[in-house]
Amino acid sequence: MGDISSTEKKLHWHLQGNWAPVEKELSESDLQVKGNIPKDLSGLFVRNGFNPVSGYSDHWFFGNGMLHGVYLEDGKASYKNRYVKTPYYEEDLNVMSSFGNLAASPANTHIVNHAGKLLALEETSLPWSVNKDLETLGVEDFNGKLDTAMTAHPRVCPETGEMLFFGYSMFSEPYLNYYRVSKEGALVQSEAIELPRPVMMHDWNITRNYVVFMDLPIVSDMDLAATTGSPFGFKPECGARLGVMPRDGNNSDVRWFDIDPCFVFHSFNSFEEGNKIVLYVSRQKEAMVGGFKDIYGGETTVARLWRWVIDLETGIVSEEQLDDGACDFPRINDNLIGLTSEYGYCMQLKTDVEDLTFGEHLFKYHLESGNRTDHHLGKNVAGGEPVFAPKPGSSKEDEGWILSLVHERETRKSKLVIIDAEAFDQEPVAEVIIPQRVPYGAHGSWIQN
Ligand SMILES: [Fe+2]
Repeated sequence: MGDISSTEKKLHWHLQGNWAPVEKELSESDLQVKGNIPKDLSGLFVRNGFNPVSGYSDHWFFGNGMLHGVYLEDGKASYKNRYVKTPYYEEDLNVMSSFGNLAASPANTHIVNHAGKLLALEETSLPWSVNKDLETLGVEDFNGKLDTAMTAHPRVCPETGEMLFFGYSMFSEPYLNYYRVSKEGALVQSEAIELPRPVMMHDWNITRNYVVFMDLPIVSDMDLAATTGSPFGFKPECGARLGVMPRDGNNSDVRWFDIDPCFVFHSFNSFEEGNKIVLYVSRQKEAMVGGFKDIYGGETTVARLWRWVIDLETGIVSEEQLDDGACDFPRINDNLIGLTSEYGYCMQLKTDVEDLTFGEHLFKYHLESGNRTDHHLGKNVAGGEPVFAPKPGSSKEDEGWILSLVHERETRKSKLVIIDAEAFDQEPVAEVIIPQRVPYGAHGSWIQN
């Protein structure tokens, strides 16, 4: 970008270094591998991320979705990257020109496997279906039954096979909707949920019997536009609440519990313990204080591991920080979503910096105690979301591997590291060298063959 002012640098950090998009869609096999890919690890690791097709987007969140897939089989690896080819891509739209068209999704935030479909997700739009070759198949509206946006963070229940999700709107009522999709992929329940004001709701929580909404104060408010230039921002005076609803309940069943104002982009997991609901979250004190573009605003805007316990009998919520490690992009063994789980994995974030900066460590937490094991990726190696791939046939929670797409800042190369989750602080068992740089991105999934 040549010489740029510090103001432009602050605005356009998401187009520089390894945030910058890549141009080519590649398909390459027989990748270079350091170490040995476990034979049990057979499937597709796929991660979504932001890759503006024109080379420019006004905000990190607005780039076109590009899927990066690493296929592992018989100890060998191949790579493919493809745009999600929605109208947002085909017609090179932006936030303004796609406004009101739910099908025109950037499709850039997550990719989730359910009922035989891979869904590329972005939270202001409908999902888009792609196949395992990462070719775009079409928009998914569940036979016309979904007519609002869908979160990028649905939860697939490991016991029932259902996919539970919500959708929020910052512009029109209902500000929140709840949906339940059967194991077979049919949308079987839709509920409008009342909120006092529109808020940004990125993630949520499920347990065996309940869902828990997070009504946190990144609000849509035109008064903010006057002070910050952004219609969205942090307003702690609006308060913060957790809403507990039976999975098959409706708006009148939601019990709201006040908590201290804060923001949570992502939850690790949540589960029931008798009459209590325990939630492990990446909680930050505040977020987007200077408006929508203010993703990183210093120490108070970086998340840490917290535990919330909702006592359904007394109505009291306890809130406790468990560790001081700055981190986000939490994951668990997906076979325990909504169920008692001991371990959580996440990516370190740096705090002594000017912009959002991914750290050199991945963390493994023993959730109950908050005890942390660090995996050092190497000097000047920036992490990515740690996705857990269970060892097939094992019921031991941490028997399996952590997969993470990481970036060597000095060589400008990207690699998929494969870490034995039970020996988390040891060297990776394998590193797959990706044949092109993979920009920092968002979320992904492991799909076992
Ligand atoms: Fe997310």
